[in-house]
Amino acid sequence: MSWNPSSWRDYPILQVPDYPDKDAVKAVEEGLSKKPPLVFAGEVQRLREQLGRVANGEAFLLQGGDCAESFAEFSANNIRDSFKVFLQMAVVLTFGASMPIVKVGRMAGQFAKPRSSDMETVGGIELPSYRGDMVNGIEFDKASRIPDPHRLLQVYEQSASTLNLLRAFSSGGMADLNQVHKWTTDYITDTKQAERFEALASRIDESLAFMEACGINSKTASPMAETDFFTSHEALLLNYEENLTRQDTITDEKGWFTTSAHMVWIGDRTRQFDGAHVEYMSGIKNPIGLKCGPSMDTDDLRRLIDKLNPDNIPGRLTLIARMGADIVTEKLPPLVKAVKEHGANVVWCSDPMHGNTVKASTGYKTRRVDDVMKEVSGFFDVHDAFGTYPGGVHFEMTGQNVTECLGGVVEVTEASLGDRYHTHCDPRLNAAQSLELSFLIADLMKKRRDSQKQFSKAG
Ligand code: PEP
Ligand code: CO
Repeated sequence: MSWNPSSWRDYPILQVPDYPDKDAVKAVEEGLSKKPPLVFAGEVQRLREQLGRVANGEAFLLQGGDCAESFAEFSANNIRDSFKVFLQMAVVLTFGASMPIVKVGRMAGQFAKPRSSDMETVGGIELPSYRGDMVNGIEFDKASRIPDPHRLLQVYEQSASTLNLLRAFSSGGMADLNQVHKWTTDYITDTKQAERFEALASRIDESLAFMEACGINSKTASPMAETDFFTSHEALLLNYEENLTRQDTITDEKGWFTTSAHMVWIGDRTRQFDGAHVEYMSGIKNPIGLKCGPSMDTDDLRRLIDKLNPDNIPGRLTLIARMGADIVTEKLPPLVKAVKEHGANVVWCSDPMHGNTVKASTGYKTRRVDDVMKEVSGFFDVHDAFGTYPGGVHFEMTGQNVTECLGGVVEVTEASLGDRYHTHCDPRLNAAQSLELSFLIADLMKKRRDSQKQFSKAG
């Protein structure tokens, strides 16, 4: 059977909404197929090249954003604040890693959620689970939970507006390194992280002044004034992806691209080798991600790699390990070893969030910052042991001052979780916690770099 943008329809599929009005679905799909692309092949190729550098150990991937974007939380300020946190984290990592940071947001399309159960029961009432704003409403009433295909069009429109802002932020001055002091969000000014960040920002100032004296500034060197910022989401609703899948008319590359985002990934629940999601993703040219949870076995992973990246192109495939802090050093090694022996060019990325979700005594779904840190450290240790490259991190965060994850320097406790718990799905790191995470990763990268230097001196 040959691939085409709709060939996934001949394969078994999981996690799809059951729309009552099939004609409405058809009409929406038709509407989507006429919409302009959100991203362009040239940008997608640029990301693939940058991820190729990550696969070769020459750059580091920073991927993050909301667990689920929502219609309610959509505002320019929210997008700006998440973008600022991204810039802060990236600059911290650039210093630690001494290499370029590839920035990919879980933004402008991350609206659909896989669920472990089709139904949800509250107070004895059972209703279909909330599957993200792309599918149904979060309110716990019968009408809201009915899947509505028109939401796909609203996702498209919101993604277009979000992308428009992100493009303006990344090239319109905000990302200029001279603005580094303005990237801090107001409410984290009095934490240890903020102090550490300010110290770093002052060092950047000094370097900029030195370079200015040498005649290099943000007017003469565009990388200092702007940044590449890419978008990504889980490609869960394949009818949305299918209708935004286009052949490029500008670049020379033949083939199909999803134009819904630069990068899309396959979730841990929909990665069946013979399933619809793997079929669809195998045929598009975009860089793709594959979530690898504790149940991934080595044979399966090898088969998936061969199907998803048959030409072994570096940057095409990112493996996103999401094991859990306590088992990462047990579950990840066999996979890393198998991929290495297979000779596969991949980016290895750590998602330290999805294996560490717990229920607080107060009922909130939460994650401990300590567990997040522990999983990232474990991920680095495993790669250290195999001489492979820990290429990136994938996390859920927001620029808002939420209280969704436990711990951190500005400590969020079980009792304070309810203060500002706004997520539409999983708990996110707030700005201070995200910054804390980036300092930890920067330290791990620096340690790795120092030990390699020593190694090469000794050798
Ligand atoms: C997610 O990234 O929000 C998600 C659902 O992850 P996973 O597929 O790894 O569970
Ligand atoms: Co999530």
